[in-house]
Amino acid sequence: MKIAIGCDHAGFGLKEEIIPLLRGMQAEILDCGTDGVQSVDYPDFGQKVSQLVSSGGAERGILICGTGIGMSMVANKFPGVRASLCNDLFTARMSRLHNDANILVMGGRVIGKDLAAEIVKTWLATAFEGARHLRRLDKIKKIEEDLNTHGMQ
Ligand code: RB5
Repeated sequence: MKIAIGCDHAGFGLKEEIIPLLRGMQAEILDCGTDGVQSVDYPDFGQKVSQLVSSGGAERGILICGTGIGMSMVANKFPGVRASLCNDLFTARMSRLHNDANILVMGGRVIGKDLAAEIVKTWLATAFEGARHLRRLDKIKKIEEDLNTHGMQ
């Protein structure tokens, strides 16, 4: 699986912990930075990962900032992106089962590396349930398409 990963300075430490875990899972990793702890702006890195997922250049994305909130806001601007902020295992599992989330967002200042590793493993291993949840995702897609075509009515 091709996975794009990105972070800001507040998520850098966690990104460095997660990349070896992904390598161990035979994932193809597209590391979109940032590459250190010097202060950067999370939208720049959220955009890189979200564009890859939105265009099909990556199947999944992982984004990390301090809380995960800013990265979630950025990612969900992109067509077809379903980014979910998961700082716990239950949410990580449900975001796949019910929401078919294609970008996992975590807060590097909220959770530690061991929990983050479990969240990533759960999120990657859980399949979308489909059925009634697909109908709901289709409605999200329709909202996105209508807004693009007609703007706010
Ligand atoms: C950076 O200080 C912080 O604001 C950022 O990492 C993130 O938490 C924003 O939502």
